[in-house]
This record gives sequence, C-alpha cells and structure tokens, in this order.
Amino acid sequence: MRNFDEDNITQAVLDRLTGCASPRTRQISEALVRHLHAFVKEIEPSEAEWADAIAFLTRTGQMCSDTRQEFILLSDTLGVSMLVDAINHRFDEGATQTTVLGPFYMEEARDFPLGAHISRESDGSALIVEGTIEDARGNPIAGALIETWHADHRGFYDVQRDTGKSALDMRARFHTDRNGRFWYRSIVPAAYPIPNDGPVGRMLDAQGRHPFRPAHVHFKLSAPGFETIVTHVFIDGDPYLESDVVFGVKDALITKLLRIDGQVIPGGHEVASGTSLITYKFVLPDEPRS
Ligand code: BEZ
Ligand code: FE
Repeated sequence: MRNFDEDNITQAVLDRLTGCASPRTRQISEALVRHLHAFVKEIEPSEAEWADAIAFLTRTGQMCSDTRQEFILLSDTLGVSMLVDAINHRFDEGATQTTVLGPFYMEEARDFPLGAHISRESDGSALIVEGTIEDARGNPIAGALIETWHADHRGFYDVQRDTGKSALDMRARFHTDRNGRFWYRSIVPAAYPIPNDGPVGRMLDAQGRHPFRPAHVHFKLSAPGFETIVTHVFIDGDPYLESDVVFGVKDALITKLLRIDGQVIPGGHEVASGTSLITYKFVLPDEPRS
C-alpha cells in the first residue's frame, strides 16, 4: 500500500503489526500507535515543535547515568509512575498504601542491626524511626526485610553528594524482630526539589510548576508469602503535601513528627530528650495464591 495521508496512515501502521509473535507485544504496539497518532492529530505540531520534542527526549537520555535517571523523573512528574503503581497495587483496604520508588533506591544498601544510627551527618536534628510490620490479620511478621532511605536535613540524598555511590548514607536494610518491630536512628529529612537541572526541570519551568517533594522517609518492605510494598511515610505539616511534584502523597501515609520529652520512647528505647520520632504500622497483604 502507498499514498498515505492523515486519514489512512494510522490504519496502515496497525496493519503492519499483524506479524507480532507475542499477543502482548501486539496489544502494546497497537495501543502505542493509536494513542501516539491521536496525540499528534490533536496537537498538530509544527516541524520545529516536533524537532524540539525529539531533542527533549534525546537530552533526557543523555542526562541518564549511574546516579541520575531522567526518564524516571519524567515518568514521575507526568504522574505516570503513580498510575502504574495504582494499577499494580489494587490491595484490600487495610494494606499499607504504596507510592513511587523514585530514582534514589539502591539495592546495595548495607545491613544494620536494629537501633543502628544510619546517618554519618554531624549536623541535622536527631530522629528515631520506629515501626511494626503486620499481616492483614494483625499478626506480627518476624524477619521481614526493611529497606529504608531518605534525604538529609538539607534535602540531599547521599548519591547527590560529590562522593556519589561510594559513600552510601541514610540508607539501610534491617530485619524485624520476633514481634515484627524495627527501629533505627537517623536525622530528620527535609523537603527537597527533585533534580531539576536537566530537561525535566526545564519542562516543569515551562509548565509553571515547582520541583518540590514534601519531607519523607522511603520504605521497601518484603517477606516470604507477602506482597512487597514500596512506600514512604510523609511528615505532617509539610507545605508541599498538597502539591508533591510526583503526585505521591496519600493521607494514610502522613504521620506526625513526635517530639520525645523523656528518655524512653514507647518502644522502650533510650534516647536523648528532644529527639524526634516517626512511628508507623505497616501491613503487608498476602501474596495471591497461584
Ligand atoms: C524520591 O522521593 O526520592 C523521588 C521520587 C520521585 C522523583 C524524585 C525523587
Ligand atoms: Fe525521596
């Protein structure tokens, strides 16, 4: 077939997909072509605009490195990461709600004993993070793996420092005790702008948007027989809770930053007066039976 025009080119491309070996690849390719063509027909780009769009995607790829993932930022800031998250975690009410993984998760974080201090920062306000992990019936999950990471009091992750990945900080792996409890010491994280010195930052500027995320601590929680949960706990009162640049905030994930007055917090751990406390109860849904 030849002589393609605005009216027949979409169907012509779809017709070329009949040789797809995988039905899923065919479904995805067809939807991509239909939606992409509909998008172009709606916006009717000039050739200069289309060249700009290609240059934007090119710069986005060129910005990616070992410690910078500009495509994840693009997906996050367009709400696509949260949409994929919602589609993949249609859990029963009661399960801990999920949110974006973000680009700062590192598999290579170190294991620490419960109660360890996970920040080497000498500044920053003292923090205890304490939690329990339970199943949907309220039973504690012993030996669950907690992967946790957060920004510092200036709003930077370890990998954003000059040392890059070579000096991991404010990230750790723990296992719950036999009562499903865990706790660790660190510093209170600040709200921060997502990395905005690249094409995604320019996109936010052009869209009249700020680049901030409200202060939070990340968690990835896993245990055999249960769904893995990727989530954050947000600190109540943060001015960016209503306008998180990546659309990741859910009411159920917001908690108050408590101030410890005595020497001992509810879990029975001795800490200095004036330390802040984040406490959260996580609930892991059962893994579906196959
Ligand atoms: C984060 O919370 O670490 C994050 C999430 C999405 C984009 C940038 C940062
Ligand atoms: Fe974060």
